[in-house]
Formats: sequence, structure tokens, C-alpha cells
Amino acid sequence: VKCTSKSRVIPHKPPATALSDSDIISTVEFNHTGELLATGDKGGRVVIFQREQESKNQPHRRGEYNVYSTFQSHEPEFDYLKSLEIEEKINKIRWLPQQNAAYFLLSTNDKTVKLWKVSERDKRPEGYNLKDEDGRLRDPSMITMLRVPVLRPMDLMVEATPRRVFANAHTYHINSISVNSDYETYMSADDLRINLWNFEITNQSFNIVDIKPANMEELTEVITAAEFHPHHCNTFVYSSSKGTIRLCDMRASALCDRHSKFFEEPEDPSNRSFFSEIISSISDVKFSHSGRYIMTRDYLTVKVWDLNMENRPIETYQVHDYLRSKLCSLYENDCIFDKFECVWNGSDSVIMTGSYNNFFRMFDRNTKRDVTLEASRENSKPRAILKPRKVCVGGKRRKDEISVDSLDFSKKILHTAWHPSENIIAVAATNNLYIFQDKVN
Ligand SMILES: *[C@@H]1O[C@H](CO)[C@@H](O)[C@H](O)[C@H]1NC(C)=O
Ligand SMILES: *[C@@H]1O[C@H](CO)[C@@H](O)[C@H](O)[C@H]1NC(C)=O
Ligand SMILES: *[C@@H]1O[C@H](CO)[C@@H](O)[C@H](O)[C@H]1NC(C)=O
Ligand SMILES: *[C@@H]1O[C@H](CO)[C@@H](O)[C@H](O)[C@H]1NC(C)=O
Repeated sequence: VKCTSKSRVIPHKPPATALSDSDIISTVEFNHTGELLATGDKGGRVVIFQREQESKNQPHRRGEYNVYSTFQSHEPEFDYLKSLEIEEKINKIRWLPQQNAAYFLLSTNDKTVKLWKVSERDKRPEGYNLKDEDGRLRDPSMITMLRVPVLRPMDLMVEATPRRVFANAHTYHINSISVNSDYETYMSADDLRINLWNFEITNQSFNIVDIKPANMEELTEVITAAEFHPHHCNTFVYSSSKGTIRLCDMRASALCDRHSKFFEEPEDPSNRSFFSEIISSISDVKFSHSGRYIMTRDYLTVKVWDLNMENRPIETYQVHDYLRSKLCSLYENDCIFDKFECVWNGSDSVIMTGSYNNFFRMFDRNTKRDVTLEASRENSKPRAILKPRKVCVGGKRRKDEISVDSLDFSKKILHTAWHPSENIIAVAATNNLYIFQDKVN
């Protein structure tokens, strides 16, 4: 597994500012060509980075991502009917494919999805007849001649404007949004329901999955993540807190309460414990780029499922099996409920997912080799090489190993992204965004 080598850190905010909760990065997403990278944070902000164009005199600078635009996507709100605070935290960002000069993305907090337009402006109109350059209305008695407004060049400005607000459709917390391959619709999933939206219509959505029991006391399962198939616009999957995945076909019926496929691995009875159900809850589900496989992340493993085989995954990778003996303390400090995401590389041959102590893991599906890497400031000096890390379990600890007991559980890598066609990865570690790329010779 490559992806070591040249690395660089981009502090999410100027390092001088003290770390506040609102700076914690809560989602990371490349656009479809990888030239743009968006992050969302707990403070409701979206920061977009743009990759620097290659230039002859500075070839080594190719690949650096610089801040392109920053805007406040969501604000804290209060639901007076339910006396509930609605956090501004951005749960997910999804890009739409580019169709004109502007870029469009969806961002969501717990309740409301917004469609943002991000566009550039380098000219400004001047010479209006009824108002002056600052926009103030001119005194009509002073207007004695007709002027022709002209466009004058100005410094490049990147503007973000909310184009649509999709609100009031979710009673529970939105965990996923996914743009359909028809690019006309998208879905939003919360704990118990999934809604289908048309991008043009904000006052109406179709409920396509509803698992809310008539009596909430009978509730045993919640929806944890959902995603559309990358090529078949009628197909989507959703995962559950019971470790199962359902594949649904919207052509079968309007309400997809009956799945067309159900993926579940029978539990190994010898591993059964008080924590079995908690650690089998799926925190993320992702289709491979090819659409043939789905990947799921649970607390200790990543699994790859073939769409044609429902009774067990074709591959299971241990992310941090050494935590199996620590589940009790991870339950007490709530870490066991952490929701780790997982991503594919552009050719679906490598899988990446996060762990604790700012470690993240990569699994090569062909060679079956795996590596543990660390996102830290020390490793992020320009052109530094990422050294594989090793966690030692009991016994003698070697010099370069770290013992399970000294792992820092407050440093967790929950969100990562992989460039769609190159070996460039983005790793969110609390309030820092690390971008690592393959060695440039
Ligand atoms: C991704 O962003 C870049 C802007 O740097 C743009 O040129 C490209 O078209 C975008 N890709 C897609 C598929 O939207
Ligand atoms: C949504 O808005 C459109 C246009 O304002 C209106 O014609 C339509 O009846 C509305 N639909 C609902 C369900 O309120
Ligand atoms: C049971 O636990 C062992 C390690 O203790 C692990 O290697 C194995 O994959 C587990 N089995 C299942 C089905 O999770
Ligand atoms: C996926 O990973 C493999 C192995 O490191 C690498 O050879 C390949 O270039 C990667 N593909 C993409 C598109 O990033």
C-alpha cells in the first residue's frame, strides 16, 4: 500500500486559534474529479479547498490544496414545538457533478439539507442610473442623463449562495444524503426513515423507507447509513444498527419496506458477549465505484460484500482487533458508539478507514497486505514519508511499537476521503485536515 511520501498539513483554521468544539471536522468529500475538496465542521461551516494547477516553474507544488471558499452553511436553531436545540454541525456533504461554470453541493445537519451554489466573480457592473456604486438610490432630481452600465474587472471573488433548502421532512437525525445517478433526485436518511427528493422541489419529498414501529417501545433497530447505487438509479442500500444491509429496488414498489436483498453474516456463537450487538452496528456503507460490491464498517472490522452473495461478506478486515479486550472501558467512555467511515480508492483495490490515536488503516484487497499510518503534525512536514505504525498487544514492546494501553482514544479518525482517480487522501483528525499524496519523484 503506497500513499506514503510527500505529505502536508492544512490546518482547518489558523493555528493561533484555540481548539474549540466548533472547529472539529465532521465530514470530508472530494468532488467527482478530485480538484475540489470540501470539509464540514461542528460549527456549521463548509470549507472548500482547490487543487493548485500544475505550473512549469514549480512542478512540485502540483497537488497542493488551498482554501478556495469558506461559508456558514447551517446555524444553530431551536425547535419550539419540541423544545429541542438543533445543532449546526454538518453531518454530510455531497457534490453534484459540474454542469456549468458554478459548483453545486448538498450539505446537511440533523434536520435540514441545503443545496449550495459556489461561483466565481471577477467583474462587477458599474454606472447604474438609479443607484450609485454603493447601491444607494440616487436622488431622482439629480438624474439628468442616461448612462450605460459597464462591467469592470475586479479581484476574483468566490461566492456561496443557498439555492434550495429542504426542511421539515425529518423527525429524527439525518445520518446520510446520497445523490442519485440520474442527478435529478437525492435521498436523505434518518434513524427510521428515508426520503427521496427532487432537486427542484423543496416543499415535498417521497418517503421510500419507513421502519418506525407503531409502538416505539418495540423499536429494536435503526437505520445507520444509506447510499444509492453508482449507476442504477432505482437501486439503493441502507445499513442498520443490527449489522445488516438491505438492498432496495424502487421499481418494485413506491414504499421500499420490502427489500430485494438482505445481507447478513450469522454471528459466531463463540464470540458472543454483552457488546456483540453494539459492535456489530454498521457505521458506514459504501458502494464500490464499479457498483459490484458494498463495503461496510462496524466497530472492529470492515467487510466487503458481493452484491450476488447475501449470506456472508467475501472479505473481512480487522481494523483494531486488539480493542476486543478493551470493550468494557470503551463502553464506559462511550467510544464504542463512535461512527467510523470507510472509503475505496479509485480502482476499488484498496480500502481505508480510521481508528484511534490518529491512526488510520489501509487494506490492499489483492495482496492482502495492510498498514497502519498516523496523521500527525510530525508526519506532515512537506515531503515527509509516512512510517507504518504498529500496536503491540501484551508481551515485549519493541522500540517503534506503541502499546494498546497508551493509545489516545480522544484522537480518532472518523472521516476520510480518497481522490477518485489518484493516490491522494484526505484525513480529518479532530480540527486538522491532513492531505497525503503518493511520492512525486
Ligand atoms: C471538480 O472541480 C473542478 C474545479 O477545480 C472542476 O473543474 C470539475 O469539473 C469538477 N468535477 C465535477 C465532475 O464536477
Ligand atoms: C409545492 O409548491 C408548488 C409551487 O409553489 C405548489 O404548486 C405545490 O402545490 C406545492 N406542493 C405541496 C405538496 O405543498
Ligand atoms: C471472533 O473473534 C476473533 C478474535 O477474537 C476474530 O478473529 C474473529 O473474526 C471473530 N469472529 C467473528 C465472526 O467476528
Ligand atoms: C488504488 O490502489 C492501488 C494500490 O495502491 C494503486 O495501484 C492504484 O493506483 C489505486 N487506484 C487509484 C485510482 O487511486
